[in-house]
Amino acid sequence: MSNNVDMEKWKLFEEECRNCSKCGLRDNATNTVIYRGSLNAPLMVIGEAPGENEDLQGLPFVGRSGQLLQNLLQSFGFTDKDYHICNICKCRPPENRRPTPEEVKACKELLAKQFMFVKPKVILLCGATAYEAFFNPDKKPRMSEVRGKFVEKGGCSIMTTYHPAFLLRNPSSKVYMYDDVQLVVDKLKELGLFN
Ligand code: URA
Repeated sequence: MSNNVDMEKWKLFEEECRNCSKCGLRDNATNTVIYRGSLNAPLMVIGEAPGENEDLQGLPFVGRSGQLLQNLLQSFGFTDKDYHICNICKCRPPENRRPTPEEVKACKELLAKQFMFVKPKVILLCGATAYEAFFNPDKKPRMSEVRGKFVEKGGCSIMTTYHPAFLLRNPSSKVYMYDDVQLVVDKLKELGLFN
């Protein structure tokens, strides 16, 4: 499945990300973390922001929580070509703190552009930061209330689930993320986008 990303334009976009100074996070970051996986993937997986390992390697979800996410995706048969993994914020917040609403807002423009390149049909939002950035809820929701159901928005089926870092701290909740990814797999199959 290919949506023929224009690589010249994509390279310019990556340059734009690396040169971005809309918030202060770039000042202390080693790398701008844009994505891993495929530019033509039907599934976009979106986390919060890079941590230490991600900042050092310039790739999202390559630390401990990334390993959990990767194991889960692999257990369903996903490979690199099936997903585009990224974050709400492209630069690491100091001490791995949550990005502020201003930082999220500043980075959302780039994510919107990224979205227009990849054109995913299904999105998996991992954790409250990703959920809130997409849905702007009036009050902070409980993850247990918003996870596990699809919301249709902009031609996309959006599923919210726990952040893998939460599951490292609460292993008994892993089963919920497993269930949510199963729904994502079912949706992709229904759309003929996953075997
Ligand atoms: N947590 C995230 O939200 N994203 C990463 O890339 C790594 C850890």
